[in-house]
Amino acid sequence: MTQKLLVTGGAGFIGANFIRLALQEGRAVVNLDALTYAGNLENLEDVAKHPDYTFIKGDIAEREVVTQAMEGADAVVNFAAESHVDRSIDNPDIFLRTNVMGTQVLLDEARHRKLGRFLQVSTDEVYGSLGETGKFREDSALAPNSPYSASKTGADLLVRAYHKTYGLATLTTRCSNNYGPLQFPEKLIPLMVTNAVEGKELPVYGDGKNVRDWIHVEDHCRALLLVLDKGRDGEIYNIGGAAEWQNIDLVRAIIRIVGASEEQIRFVKDRPGHDRRYAIDSSKIEDELGFQRTYDFETGLAQTVAWYREHQTWWEQVKSGAYRDYYAKMYGERPDAGGDL
Ligand code: NAD
Ligand code: DAU
Repeated sequence: MTQKLLVTGGAGFIGANFIRLALQEGRAVVNLDALTYAGNLENLEDVAKHPDYTFIKGDIAEREVVTQAMEGADAVVNFAAESHVDRSIDNPDIFLRTNVMGTQVLLDEARHRKLGRFLQVSTDEVYGSLGETGKFREDSALAPNSPYSASKTGADLLVRAYHKTYGLATLTTRCSNNYGPLQFPEKLIPLMVTNAVEGKELPVYGDGKNVRDWIHVEDHCRALLLVLDKGRDGEIYNIGGAAEWQNIDLVRAIIRIVGASEEQIRFVKDRPGHDRRYAIDSSKIEDELGFQRTYDFETGLAQTVAWYREHQTWWEQVKSGAYRDYYAKMYGERPDAGGDL
């Protein structure tokens, strides 16, 4: 029988890529998304009329719509979240409401229904920051440093509690930084690519030597389906890209691919509480579930830059309107970073 997934936050970057893959694999999907600034139904235009796809506009923190959306579902995959660290520094409240309270509403509805599987899509940021060596393992201490990562950690602990206390069949994945098509251009890679194309400044925080581990969004989505199908109840699985890059080196690589100028780089005030380095030990998901990445970072980055070049109308629309006001607030106060995208 066709597996029916309730996917929350499916109109965002990773959720939209995941829904496309799940439908391709013959699964049915109900997408519950509040369509915040980050949710864009255009991301799913090509599957909107698919017979196994249904969209419901709604907030995961509101019980009534969650009850309706979970009807008949075999499993939940929870992507819905406020996802941007800088925004969480400005306005933590909404991060707690959606990421913590919203997850609790979903968990509670799932427990009442004795749902088969609840997959919480979490992040490596729950582990905090690394020094120059070492990698995050599933049993590394939780040490979140931003309101965003604290809210994701809170959600992870609720997932754990619902498994231990009520026996809910939960799974938690903690992934590193994603890149690829459809990422909102407030995040490092699409921001730098689109600004480089437009000849604008490239705002690098602090000394630019913070390190992130990059994974292609399709590899992340494949890993999520693998965990959903084969993961053990109550377990946590790290997912990494094995591609550690200092931000400044990454920005220079993007400049080279786009054919922009290094003179566009602008070092700006650092992000408060800025985590220095992330690196993931993915051996558990590789050894237990046989996960293998399909992208190497250089190829994936070049393809991603090409995607943004081919979809200029998409990001120009995204970069207009409300996002413009947000950007002006973020960067406008840094006089040398410019107030425009
Ligand atoms: P995104 O910001 O692109 O998308 C978030 C989606 O959630 C949007 O469609 C938005 O409309 C929806 N949403 C927000 N609040 C909601 C609410 N209250 N009810 C229903 N829908 C709501 O985020 P993303 O980058 O696609 O991340 C998806 C998930 O993956 C998040 O949980 C994030 O913490 C996690 N994650 C992201 C990354 C990354 O690098 N982007 C890495 C690891 C984990
Ligand atoms: O590690 C997983 C996390 O990756 C996810 O949980 C988050 O949802 C996702 O947003 C991402 O968080 P980061 O904070 O690492 O991503 P961001 O793209 O905001 O920043 C990446 C790095 O680039 C970080 O060191 C900050 C830096 N940066 C970012 C922006 C937006 C800049 O130097 N300049 C910028 O303008």
